[in-house]
Amino acid sequence: MTFAMLRASFTSLNSVQQWGFGSVSPAHATQLMHANVQPHVLDMRMIESVNNSIRHLSPTEIRSKMKRRSLRRVSIKPSSGVANDMHSGSDWDKAEFVLEELRRQCDTPADLLYRLVEDMVEEMKAGLAKEGGSKDYKMILTYVDKLPSGKERGHFYALDLGGTNFRVLRVSFGQDGSTPVFQEVSIPQEIMLGQHEELFDYIAGKLAEFVSKEDSSYHPRPGCKRELGFTFSFPIKQTSIDSGELIKWTKGFAVEGTAGKDVVQALNEAMERRGLDMVVTALVNDTVGTLAVASLAASKADAGDEVMISVILGTGTNACYVESIDAIPKWKGPKPSSGNMIISMEWGGFSSSLLPRTQYDEALDAVSVNPGEQIFEKLLSGMYLGDIVRRVLLRLAEEAALFGPSVPPNLLIPCILGTPHVSCMHQDKSSDLQEVGRILSNVLGIHETSLELRKLVVEVCSIIAKRAARLAGAGIVGILRKIGRDRSKHDGSSSHRTVVAMDGGLYEHYPLFRAEMKAAVVELLGSEVAENVLIELSKDGSGIGAALLAAAHSKYSRYGW
Ligand code: BGC
Repeated sequence: MTFAMLRASFTSLNSVQQWGFGSVSPAHATQLMHANVQPHVLDMRMIESVNNSIRHLSPTEIRSKMKRRSLRRVSIKPSSGVANDMHSGSDWDKAEFVLEELRRQCDTPADLLYRLVEDMVEEMKAGLAKEGGSKDYKMILTYVDKLPSGKERGHFYALDLGGTNFRVLRVSFGQDGSTPVFQEVSIPQEIMLGQHEELFDYIAGKLAEFVSKEDSSYHPRPGCKRELGFTFSFPIKQTSIDSGELIKWTKGFAVEGTAGKDVVQALNEAMERRGLDMVVTALVNDTVGTLAVASLAASKADAGDEVMISVILGTGTNACYVESIDAIPKWKGPKPSSGNMIISMEWGGFSSSLLPRTQYDEALDAVSVNPGEQIFEKLLSGMYLGDIVRRVLLRLAEEAALFGPSVPPNLLIPCILGTPHVSCMHQDKSSDLQEVGRILSNVLGIHETSLELRKLVVEVCSIIAKRAARLAGAGIVGILRKIGRDRSKHDGSSSHRTVVAMDGGLYEHYPLFRAEMKAAVVELLGSEVAENVLIELSKDGSGIGAALLAAAHSKYSRYGW
């Protein structure tokens, strides 16, 4: 594959939803796979590294380069007969060794997780003590100090930006039966990697298109503007409910000139340039929107459950939780009447040396857009799991000739294997692992695989997913410990059940991942305490929650908090 072809295929990828890590269904994912389109997020640094290595080569030269690579593998017996029969040409002992090493390095026994939980709690405290107090957690003050009351009324908008697509939505509160109106827009790659103003102009343009289709019943009253909740799912330093500066991009974004700027001001100015009668009234992280929506649902259900934590496990990962204001020394403002504030941890930045990292993780990190950063995120979020698995398979191909005498060229392509593929392979229930065979063939160009080989691939997926899920479970237990909800009721902690609201494609579309994560939480808490912790999917909160918070902070509505 030439670089031009590679680039073209990645460009076409950018226009498709990331399955499960945006919101494309498994069925759609399968269609994409059959069309040989890999629905994953791109990482330009990785693509650039491929670019650099093959940029000037013709297809013949690339093939010969790959052949030379395979010839360097001295320990591999020549294959006879079927190229992919691991018993004929593959070094099975070597494959076993690589797999055993992987199992060992990715192992997450309870005692390790407990130690990680302790580290997490220490970092949380340090991040709450002062700005920049933790090397890992930003512990962002969100300025959300009350959760929605359910009394919000009127039409509100949300802009949900956090991945390769963004969503615009309108929600009408207080009208029974009204459903939110959504529009999903993909962000062209050149915008994701372009200039600050271009990004905001592009978004404002799409917002203008959205409202131009509305009938007059949605037009704002004279003297008023449409009000927008802006879900901006990147680390920011929030300075009020409607202002905040980008600290750094994550998830493959690298827009120049945004870091250090107020993203609300940037959007408001872009909307003005478009002549759009809209203003941002709330800036929220996706975890905060999710917590707001889940909390409203719980208060309506009136079962006495308290939504204290929300976690996103999707392309990226993060958690927020309800913290007592007295436990936030860095908060210098007046004490909110609720006595609480939601803290967005940016837990993807956790980087304890105890984290079970491998050579594959280190190599992935080294070519990412943000080397040395978001270490926890790189071990467990949807953007990365697929590429970790690819890297293990590549080593098995190079050192154990697992897929025949030469390394399958597609295995050398960064990010070609997405987390959706890992999930499909891991959860393949057919006796002959058909789905695994299909993905190996359609995505990696590895045809006619034996059942043993497919099993081994499933094992690799399982090891990587299990490590990720157990680390996520430890993260949740860390927060529960910080807020004293990791103990049984006898010791004076709240008698309400604690709800952890979950969203994100990785959690939603990967049942085995979910099961591992919950099992880890139960293992760490013990079953008695775990019975009072409900880990629940709370869908679409990131957008609707932002609209709710915009309503709650409305400049015009007499309702609110
Ligand atoms: C971002 C967070 C976000 C999370 C989930 C991370 O990469 O830094 O702000 O909440 O992804 O979308």
